[in-house]
Amino acid sequence: MKRYRIGWLPGDGIGIEVCAAARKVLDAVGFDAEYVPGDIGWEFWRAEGDALPGRTIELLKQVDAAMFGAITSKPVKEAEAELAPELRGRGFVYRSPIVRMRQLFDLYKCVRPCRAYPGNPLNYKEGIDLVVFRENTEGLYSGVEFSPVPPELAALLAQLSKNFAPFKELPADAYAITCKVNTRAASERIIRAAFEYALAHGYPKVTALHKANVVRATEGLFLETAKRVAKDYPAIAMEDANVDAICMWLTMKPKNYGVLVATNLFGDIVSDLCAGLVGGLGFACSGNIGDKLAVFEPTHGSAPKHAGKNKANPVATILAAKMMLDWLGEREKAEAIEIAVRGVVADGAVRTYDMGGTATTMDMAAAVAAALP
Ligand code: NAI
Ligand code: MG
Repeated sequence: MKRYRIGWLPGDGIGIEVCAAARKVLDAVGFDAEYVPGDIGWEFWRAEGDALPGRTIELLKQVDAAMFGAITSKPVKEAEAELAPELRGRGFVYRSPIVRMRQLFDLYKCVRPCRAYPGNPLNYKEGIDLVVFRENTEGLYSGVEFSPVPPELAALLAQLSKNFAPFKELPADAYAITCKVNTRAASERIIRAAFEYALAHGYPKVTALHKANVVRATEGLFLETAKRVAKDYPAIAMEDANVDAICMWLTMKPKNYGVLVATNLFGDIVSDLCAGLVGGLGFACSGNIGDKLAVFEPTHGSAPKHAGKNKANPVATILAAKMMLDWLGEREKAEAIEIAVRGVVADGAVRTYDMGGTATTMDMAAAVAAALP
């Protein structure tokens, strides 16, 4: 029997190509796994009204970890228009499969390492080494939204909050409400995860990002939790900073930072900024990690304009596979992959288009496989 069962969800567009590339490297490093393919993505939305069919959810309950490529998603009206004719008008609503996976399996940590591999022509500066911990299940992405706004909600808000006064006379469809819900429990576990990571990997401090001065209730709760959790980690310094200011400082003095932690939306934005400092989407990998399951993916989408051209940079997905090996406890193999990526980037002979080269997706995968120690 194979040692691991891995859910394999390439999805749409370049997701398929970059996953095939990562698989080449996983095979070359000798990872002992059975890969169980799962249906996910646009074609299943069109044919079944569900981009994450129930059978894929069942599959995810029976694997050790999963790799996910990318999916195509479209705005509500366009999505409805592309449904199979017999499904239209039957109340199917498109929902992002990755957001659903995170919520269904409580994949509460979104971990996004952003390292400047020496010699990458896309590095903003050499020596950048950032890891963003983003809360992955709640905050502004909780999905508690109203458009149009129900009158009973408006009436209650007018009664409970004087700040609602400017909105209370508006017609229901003249505005929309998205609730930002943050719990102490989810804040604590992501912050604790950031401190544990700093401790295990030798980072001297954790920077908690927030906007507690304005978004007082939820961001205040997050900051207060960070200050409390920090007391359990005397060896690690804790610094807090407004998220807008940190976006400026990250571009001016990126080497002053290491482990960063934030609520869902801020973490999403800041992790893309950090990815931009170290090569962009072709290098941005992430793990959606829970206590029982973890799903690893490149941060990028399905890039329809490059799909099927064997052109996309697979490094983000190869690094996501490396993160998966780490999470499974296969440290040596994980490290071997990182050493190989580092070597190929430094060597510079094989570069995909985004790095200014002409190598294909599979050329890059082959180069990484050949560079394994
Ligand atoms: P995208 O990330 O797919 O692509 C944006 C651009 O970035 C591409 O056109 C390409 O120039 C570059 N790029 C992306 N990945 C690359 C790679 N591996 N190598 C080299 N260059 C790369 O974002 P876009 O175009 O906004 O969205 C396309 C579709 O993907 C949409 O349907 C969107 O909803 C979906 N999407 C899915 C995500 C996911 O599955 N996690 C995340 C982001 C978008
Ligand atoms: Mg994003």
